[in-house]
Amino acid sequence: MKKFIQSLPKVELHLHIEGSLEPELMFELAKRNKIAIPFNSHEEVRAAYNFHNLQSFLDIYYQGANVLIHEQDFFDLTWAYLLRCKADHVMHTEIFFDPQTHTARGIAFDTVVKGIDRALTRGHEELAISSKLIMCFLRHLDEESAFITLNQALAHKDKIIAVGLDSSEIGNPVQKFERVFKKAIDHGFKSVAHAGEEGPASNIRDALELLKVDRVDHGVRCTEDPALLAQLIAQKIPLTVCPLSNTKLKVYKNMTEHNIVELLRHGVCVTINSDDPAYFGGYMTDNFIAVADAHPLSKAELAQFTVNAIHASFISEQEKQPLLQRTLDYLEQN
Ligand code: ADE
Ligand code: ZN
Repeated sequence: MKKFIQSLPKVELHLHIEGSLEPELMFELAKRNKIAIPFNSHEEVRAAYNFHNLQSFLDIYYQGANVLIHEQDFFDLTWAYLLRCKADHVMHTEIFFDPQTHTARGIAFDTVVKGIDRALTRGHEELAISSKLIMCFLRHLDEESAFITLNQALAHKDKIIAVGLDSSEIGNPVQKFERVFKKAIDHGFKSVAHAGEEGPASNIRDALELLKVDRVDHGVRCTEDPALLAQLIAQKIPLTVCPLSNTKLKVYKNMTEHNIVELLRHGVCVTINSDDPAYFGGYMTDNFIAVADAHPLSKAELAQFTVNAIHASFISEQEKQPLLQRTLDYLEQN
């Protein structure tokens, strides 16, 4: 089964590019950019990755991003992630970036987008991995900062497909972002939001009703509200679930308790993703294996996660066809 999972074609829809910063690259960039970091070795960094909730992770994650300064740094970060995608048979990926984490440090929006986009373009040409870029607003910051960020994004509309909402869910309800999401949608951006990761099922309802999102990031707490669960199934609203993230951040005590397989069998358009792989101990294949180790799954069920992700992706129906074909061919031949 591990061999089947390793080579299974995959699609990733929930990946924070800053969360793919491996300790080795963090050290290299810190040295290159002469940035002091509070660790003496890679081992020390990894030992610090012991989280008890989302906030304890975010504090370290924002600190790690401080080493990213130049366009080349964002290129190197993204390219390293794409090589992991290649190894894991990821055909298509839709990645998040957090512009405010960088603009708050005086890094230009353009520098960030250009570095990431250059790597994504090369990834398409040299690795045959297609991609889309999603810009997230940080929900612990105010509406004004989100509007400034959206205005900066308008010059890069050709490179950014959607807006998203991430950072601390508890204490930062979506109401604050209703107007900025409306403006983004009016400009033609698609939209997603983290909801129901640590926060209650009502946050998922709010993201759907107030922000009008096309899909929900995490959303695992939907099972606490049967009517909401029925709505997700009926309206085919995708959930981008991140199993290793959820156990690392103590949303679930262990993978056996995770509801992802229950969601799949209920007919929810649920997908498997890696979130912040450098911090949570694994990329796409690792996440699939962690789920399959805790929950016996058939090959068809494993492939269904990819089929769901293809349907949930922001590429055209025409672009989806070869990805679906490749997945179904793989299932038939293996
Ligand atoms: N930013 C990076 N990873 C995140 C997560 N899992 N939840 C909210 N914000 C994040
Ligand atoms: Zn996330």
